[in-house]
Parts: sequence; structure tokens; C-alpha cells
Amino acid sequence: MFTPSLLRDQVAIVTGGGTGIGLAVAKRFGELGAKVAIGSRNAKNLEEGTAELRHAGQDPLAVQVDVRKPEQVDEMVARVVKHFGRIDILINNAAGNFVCRAEDLSPNGWNAVVGIVLHGSFYCSRAVGRHIIARGGGGVIVSILANYVWTGSAGTVHSAAAKAGVMSMTQTLAVEWGRHRIRVNAVAPGPIESPGAARQLWNTPEAVQRISGTIPLQRWGLPMEVADAVAFLASEHASFITGEILTIDGGAWLGRGPFEFV
Ligand code: HXC
Ligand code: NAP
Repeated sequence: MFTPSLLRDQVAIVTGGGTGIGLAVAKRFGELGAKVAIGSRNAKNLEEGTAELRHAGQDPLAVQVDVRKPEQVDEMVARVVKHFGRIDILINNAAGNFVCRAEDLSPNGWNAVVGIVLHGSFYCSRAVGRHIIARGGGGVIVSILANYVWTGSAGTVHSAAAKAGVMSMTQTLAVEWGRHRIRVNAVAPGPIESPGAARQLWNTPEAVQRISGTIPLQRWGLPMEVADAVAFLASEHASFITGEILTIDGGAWLGRGPFEFV
């Protein structure tokens, strides 16, 4: 059980923090005492996310940013430092995705997803990493991957390749920045109930039913279940964990084996 002061006075940036899983992370972090900045492109997402966090008694900073633009990312980091005085935690949650056959995927479609997921996570990690290295004292980065980093996944070559790149970046930065006491970890969720993902990836009852049959725990995950794992990795409870990928998918990525009992 988390104590309510687990992240007290820690300053966190959550990219894509106005919706879905990112909003759940922002909310949980606020409940645990963190000061939270949320960053994304769409003003409406930021406004609605901010309103929900305020309703929960928090006072977030919202920053409009496209993580594909390194200069905007640097500006976001500067604004958060100015507003809160420091940054301790980065959550690389922003992503784009859609289902498309690899042979039909345009270069622009590939670039859009790889740009948000892989390049964006690097630009944010670089900017926050520089800040933490300069001020000393350590910090934490947690990236949101997907369980198909282990398996690949038909229809999402752009996302799977980009998430696998972020996985490798996680392990690499864990080694490189360990001496700065920056822990770098990731979570790899399977299907989680979130309107953004539903819109992009499973917008028919048939798709929902087919995916449900692939999950041994026989239900979808909730955004707060991802948020709790992210909070654990960001906290002192995980003080000796770095370069780790925690899968959160009800067992979906595991092979079913040759025998069938259910
Ligand atoms: C084929 C598509 C497409 C689709 C977009 N494109 N959608 N191609 N099928 N469904 C192509 C466009 O035609 C264009 O290429 C290129 O992608 C860029 O499209 P834009 O709309 O101009 O891009 P942009 O406005 O930058 O938007 C990025 C986006 C969009 C990724 C395309 O969907 C987005 O903003 N998504 C953010 C929210 C999101 O995706 N959330 C889901 C995360 S869930 P051309 O060649 O025509 O110019 C998730 C879960 C994974 O990741 C794990 C599940 C287990
Ligand atoms: P979501 O609500 O669509 O979240 C995506 C977020 O990314 C949005 O808030 C979006 O905000 C932001 N974003 C997209 N492009 C951006 C850009 N260029 N710059 C800044 N922000 C950008 O979907 P979600 O399900 O919560 O996904 C959150 C994370 O979980 C993603 O990394 C996703 O890959 C991962 N994930 C989700 C599932 C699932 O089943 N839901 C499973 C595995 C992994 P704007 O549109 O305002 O920019």
C-alpha cells in the first residue's frame, strides 16, 4: 500500500497527461504528493485534463507541446523548471498509433508514429536528463511501452518498432545515467480501457471481443492499474531498480502452451 506522501514534493512531467493513461498517472502522482505538469498538443485535452485534476484538488501546470519538436520540448522543460523550481520525474507517455498493414503504411504515417514515440521520448529524456544532471541529486524516467515489444504485433509495425526503440533507450540510459543517480525504467501494458486507444485501435465490437479472448485474466486493464505501477517505479520503493521493463497485461503476452484446459 502506498503512503499518501510517497512522492511528496517531487516534480513530475507527464507527456500526454491530459487523457487516458497519462491522466491517470498525473492523478495518482498528485494523490501521492507530487507536483505535476502535463504536456500535449491539443488545448482541449489539456483543458479537460486540468479540470479533472483540479476537481481532484490538484494544481497542475499544463504546457502545449509537440514532443516531435525538440525546441518545444526544451521550452516545456524550461517552463516547468521556472514554475515548480525543478524536475525530478519524467513520464514518457505521449504516443500515436493506428492499425495499418505494413505494405500500406506511408512514409508519413511511419514518421508520425516513430516521431512521437521514439524521437519524442528521446527529446524529452534528453531535456529532463540535462536538467537533472546539471542540478545533481538524481531523478527518474519511466516510459510507457506496449506488451508487443516482446512479441511484435501485426498491424502496428510503426508503433512496435518505436516502442522497442524506447525499450532499448531505457536500458541504455539506465547504464549511462546510473552515475547521475537517474533511474530509467518502463512499463509495457497490454490492452487498457482508454478512449484514445479504443478510437485508434479497437473501434468495433468484433475487435474488442477478439482481443478480450487473448487475455488470461479475462478482462482489460484499467488506466489506474498502469498508474500504480508507474508510481511504484518512480518512488523510493524501486530505489534499486533501473533498466527494467514491467509488463502489465493480465498475462496476454505469454504463450498459451500446447494444451488447452479452458
Ligand atoms: C493509415 C494513417 C492512419 C490510419 C493516419 N495515417 N491515420 N494511415 N491508417 N488509420 C497517416 C496519414 O494518412 C498521414 O500519412 C500520416 O499518418 C500522418 O497523419 P496526420 O493525421 O497528418 O498526423 P498527425 O496529425 O501528426 O497525427 C498523428 C497520428 C494520430 C498518430 C496519425 O492518430 C494521433 O495524433 N494520435 C494520437 C492519439 C493516439 O494515437 N492514441 C493511441 C495510443 S494507444 P500521409 O501519407 O497520408 O500524409 C497505443 C496502444 C498500443 O499506443 C498498445 C495496445 C496493446
Ligand atoms: P491516448 O489517450 O490517446 O494518449 C495519447 C496521448 O499522447 C494523448 O494525450 C495525446 O495528446 C498525446 N500526444 C500524441 N501525440 C503527441 C505529440 N506529438 N506531442 C505531445 N503529446 C502527444 O491513449 P492512451 O491509451 O492513454 O495511451 C497512453 C500511453 O499508453 C501511450 O504511450 C500508449 O502507447 C500506451 N499504451 C496504451 C495501451 C492501451 O491499451 N490503452 C496499451 C499499451 C500501451 P494530444 O492529442 O493532446 O497531443
